Amino acid sequence: MKQKLEEIRAAAHEALAGELNLDALEQLRIKYLGKKGEITAVLKGMGKLTAEERPVIGALANEVRSQVEGMIETKKAEIAAKIEEVKLKAEVIDVTMPGRAQERGELHPLTKVMNNIKDTFIGMGFEIADGPEVELDYYNFEALNIPKNHPARDTQDTFYVSDNVVLRTQTSGMQVRVMEKQKPPIRIIAPGKVYRSDAVDATHSPVFHQIEGLVVDKGVTMADLKGTLEMFIHRLYGDETKVRFRPHHFPFTEPSAELDISCFKCGGKGCQMCKGEGWIEILGCGMVHPKVLANCGIDPEIYSGFAFGIGLERIAMGKYDINDLRLFFENDLRFLRQF
Ligand code: DAH
Repeated sequence: MKQKLEEIRAAAHEALAGELNLDALEQLRIKYLGKKGEITAVLKGMGKLTAEERPVIGALANEVRSQVEGMIETKKAEIAAKIEEVKLKAEVIDVTMPGRAQERGELHPLTKVMNNIKDTFIGMGFEIADGPEVELDYYNFEALNIPKNHPARDTQDTFYVSDNVVLRTQTSGMQVRVMEKQKPPIRIIAPGKVYRSDAVDATHSPVFHQIEGLVVDKGVTMADLKGTLEMFIHRLYGDETKVRFRPHHFPFTEPSAELDISCFKCGGKGCQMCKGEGWIEILGCGMVHPKVLANCGIDPEIYSGFAFGIGLERIAMGKYDINDLRLFFENDLRFLRQF
């Protein structure tokens, strides 16, 4: 038995010296120390020994058992350490490596100018009104004093969705929508997209942006219109910019005017930008027509108002000296990065 134990000790020593994984190690543990293991078998056979032999063999068996147990524990720790090391190597990160650059976007130049215009009017106490781009013919034309066969319709080539529904050709319909809902005092701007069936060229696009303005209250006069718009132009283009109001006709305002500013490029001397005129047309405006007020249930004997419509693209082209409208919509980064 003594010899058997020595053999077990030697065999276990040898087996545990080699490369092992956790499964193989467990097999060895079962082989020597398990219920049916070799050392267990020796211990079970102790009954057959004489009284003198028993303590000697018992001591030896215990010694071998704890030695094998110790070797297995050591091996287990070794394997665990190796696994940990492999894992750490696989997960290694180089903290000195440069990061992946996050490209930061910029606001589109049209959005910038739009925000600028909104800020200016908000600063003067205006609120922002929003409305549909697919619009009833009634709001886009009829209620604005442009009946079905009015020649003014010819100046705005219209996308018709059906007989009574259009893609709005102007933001002016918002005047009516606001006045129907809200009683004076009213002071709003209504920015947004408008649509016209125009062929694309350097100054035309089937989609563009307008900013409508409307002020209605008791005692509003043309002087208020002029003061408000002059202030707006000075904020946008600088105090040195001259403003002139030129009589015009719009069906929904009376009297009506177009506002010109002294050319931002040549200061009024005449250049290519202003086609030699020294002036550049910026917007349409006028005193709200009494019929339009009445259409919205506002008594024109008590209230009066002024309105204006600004073309955003034209303003942005002037501000940034851009000579082709198409650049705004082509999304060429070389263009967009300049703003
Ligand atoms: N809606 C007009 C257009 O698209 C612009 C305009 C002119 C708006 C005069 C107004 C206004 O509010 O009073 O040509």
